[in-house]
Amino acid sequence: MQPAKHEHWSSGFTFLLAAVGSAVGLGNIWRFPYVVAENGGGAFVLIYLAIVFVFGIPLLMSELMIGRSSQKPPLSAIQTFGRGSRAKKLWNALGWSYLLVPLGILTFYSVVAGWTLDYAFGMSIGTFNNLEDGASASMFQDLLQSPIKLVFWMTLSIGITVGIVARGLKSGLEQTVKILMPALFVILIILVLYASITGDFAKSFAFMFEPDFSKITPELVLMAAGQAFFSLSLGSGAIMVYGSYLTRDISIPKMAVGVALADSGVALLAGFAIFPIVFAFGVDHSAGPGLVFVTLPIVFNDMGGIGQIFGVLFFLLLAFAAVTSTISLLEPMVAQLSEEGTFKRARAAIYSGAVLWVVGVFVALSNNILSDVHPLGFLPLFEGKTIEGVIEFLSANVFMLLNGLLVSVFVGWSIKRTVTLEEMGLGDSVLFKIWFMLVRFVVPLGVGFIFYDVVL
Ligand code: TRP
Repeated sequence: MQPAKHEHWSSGFTFLLAAVGSAVGLGNIWRFPYVVAENGGGAFVLIYLAIVFVFGIPLLMSELMIGRSSQKPPLSAIQTFGRGSRAKKLWNALGWSYLLVPLGILTFYSVVAGWTLDYAFGMSIGTFNNLEDGASASMFQDLLQSPIKLVFWMTLSIGITVGIVARGLKSGLEQTVKILMPALFVILIILVLYASITGDFAKSFAFMFEPDFSKITPELVLMAAGQAFFSLSLGSGAIMVYGSYLTRDISIPKMAVGVALADSGVALLAGFAIFPIVFAFGVDHSAGPGLVFVTLPIVFNDMGGIGQIFGVLFFLLLAFAAVTSTISLLEPMVAQLSEEGTFKRARAAIYSGAVLWVVGVFVALSNNILSDVHPLGFLPLFEGKTIEGVIEFLSANVFMLLNGLLVSVFVGWSIKRTVTLEEMGLGDSVLFKIWFMLVRFVVPLGVGFIFYDVVL
C-alpha cells in the first residue's frame, strides 16, 4: 500500500488556530487557575510568564523547525536529522519519546476531558440546580467513584478525537479548529465580561498581578516550569507534527510568538473568568484540582437561573478546549503510522485509539476500583502513585522535560547551524543569535536543572 501523502495547512492562520488549539486546553482553564491559587498568585504568574518567554518560545521554534524542515512525522523527523550524528542512538530514542509521550498524556487527559463532557451534559439538564451545601463536592466524588461514568465519558472523548483525526488534516483537524477556536474565544470573553462586571475584579487583578516576591521558592519555579511546558504542548510530538504541515513561506519565529502569547493570554483570561466570581461569592479559592468542578457549580447555583446558562457555557468551553488539544496528542502517532508505516490514516487512528482506550480504562479505574494498585511502588520515586499517577508523572514530568532538554541540545549542537539559520528566516541577525544562544546554553542548563530537581 502507498504511504499517505503529507498534507499542508491551508494558511498560516489555520496553523495558528490549530497550534493555539493544542496549547490552549485543560491546562489553561482547569489547571492554571488552581495552580496559581495554590502557589501564591502574582509571584507564580510572573515566573510562569518569564519561563514561557525564555524557555517556551525558543523551544516552540526548535520543535516547529524540526517538523517543518523534515516534512515528516516526529519519529522520522528526528531520525532524519540524527542520521549522520555520532549520538545517533540517542536521537533515535528521542524520536520514540516524542512519539510516545503524547499518547501517555492522552491516557489521563482523555479521562479529564470526559469529566468536562459529564459536567457540560449535567449542567444542561439541570443536575446542578438547587445544590444543597456540600452537594457539589460529593457529586464530584460520585463521578470519580463511578467506573461506568468515567469509562463512558472517556470513551466518548476518545471517540470524538479518533473521528476527527481519522478524517485527516484538512477535513478533520482544520475544520474542527476553525469552528471550535472562535467559539472558545467568544465563550471565554462572555464569561470574563460577566465575571468582571458582577464579581470582584479588582481583587482578582491584585491577586494575579501583584507579586509577593517572598513567595518565590525553588518549588514555585518548578511548578511554573511544569505548567509552562504542559500548557505550551512542548516536549511531545504535538507542536512538531503541526510544524511538519507548515509550508516554507511561513515565519516560524512569528508563529512561535503567536502561540505563546495566545496561550498565556487565555490562561490569564481563564483566571479573570474564575477568580472574580470565586472571590465575590467568598468560596474557597485554593480548592486544588476541584476548583472548577467543585467550586464553580456552587457559584453558578448561587447565581440563580442565569447561572445554569453560564455553567453550560463554561463546561462547553472546557470541552472544546480539550478536544482541540486531544487531536494534537493523537496526531503524531497517526501521522507516523500512516505516512511512514503501512496503515491507512483511518485505520491508524482507530488502532491508536483502541490501544489508548485500553490503557485509559486502567487510568480511569485508578480513581476507584484500582486505587490501591501502585505499579512501581517499590521505587521511592513512585511510592504511593496509582496507575494514573505513574503515567502522568512519567509522561508529563519526566519525559516531557527530558525531551525539551534533549531537543534543545539536538537543535543547538547537532543540527547544522546553516540549516537552523535558513529555517528561522531571521538572517544572521541579533534575534537569531539570541535564539541560538538560548537554545545552546540557557534552555539545556535551565531545563536540566529543573529536571534534576523534579526527578533526581
Ligand atoms: N497544552 C494542552 C493544555 O494545556 C495539553 C496538551 C496538548 C499537551 N498537547 C500537548 C501537553 C502536548 C503536553 C504535550 O491543556
